[in-house]
Amino acid sequence: MEINGKTRVCGLIGNPVEHTLSPMIHNTLAEMFGHNLVYVPFPVETGRVAEAVAGASALGILGLNVTVPYKSEVISCLREVDSLAASIGAVNTLVSVRGGYKGYNTDMEGLYRAMTTEGIPLEGEEILLLGAGGASRAVAYLCAIKGAKRVYLLNRTLDKAQKVAQEVNRHAGRDVIFPMALADYDSLPDQKFLAIQGTSVGLFPHADQAVIEDEGFYGRIHTGFDLIYTPWETRFMKLVKKSGGRAYNGLKMLLYQGVIAYELWNDVEVSEKEAQIVYEKLKAHFAGETD
Ligand code: ATR
Repeated sequence: MEINGKTRVCGLIGNPVEHTLSPMIHNTLAEMFGHNLVYVPFPVETGRVAEAVAGASALGILGLNVTVPYKSEVISCLREVDSLAASIGAVNTLVSVRGGYKGYNTDMEGLYRAMTTEGIPLEGEEILLLGAGGASRAVAYLCAIKGAKRVYLLNRTLDKAQKVAQEVNRHAGRDVIFPMALADYDSLPDQKFLAIQGTSVGLFPHADQAVIEDEGFYGRIHTGFDLIYTPWETRFMKLVKKSGGRAYNGLKMLLYQGVIAYELWNDVEVSEKEAQIVYEKLKAHFAGETD
């Protein structure tokens, strides 16, 4: 694609942004669709998010992704916020609207689409959710909103799990999140679960770690979904597989959060076939780095 007078710009604001894979996702999609669009990273200094968003709007930047540490802070700089993003309190995608931007949370929509394409439903499911930090809190909202039957929220610090459960249950208007201390997993009902791993344990370079080591625990999991994708196969995934379950990493979540943002910016639908081409490119990036 030739950059010319009609080229539109999208990008990523965050700090740091050097290691982002989003340019690969969006520039590949732009090429595939023949869109005259470029996607670039913009490192934003602490305290300058509002200026960045106002400046982006003034420059006519079509859309932005937002990453750590600005996903919550950016909300006060927006014209509108989509309801899922507002409930979660985190925005990772800005779409240009009159006078500014509307915020979305395509991280969670992306996780949902990744799970749907893998044939993993949330509706009516009994789920184990590991962790109660920012990522797991968002997943708890997603599970509640998408109609999960029950989510056992296991966290090392029980207080945090209780706080998240209270908040999400209030929002959902039903008891759907059940907080538990991680150490009490033995008292879970005797059945098989979908488990979502939302802690930072096992993330590169600590690839040899998992929140729970006991094989007895993994025997309760029919499907394990780790939000981590570095390493390619986490210790959590290995333990799930060893006990006969299916296991997935978080790369498809990364893929689909990008795909959904691209769809919002360009008013197009990205087919599964097109998404798969981007996925193969992301996957190739990790070839040779897979722990
Ligand atoms: P994020 O925003 O990525 O979710 P976070 O808010 O720092 O990151 O949350 C990290 C999560 O990993 C928390 O659930 C944390 O448990 P605590 O709330 O008890 O701190 C969990 N975590 C981190 N290290 C852990 C460890 N060694 N064992 C168990 N859980 C751990």
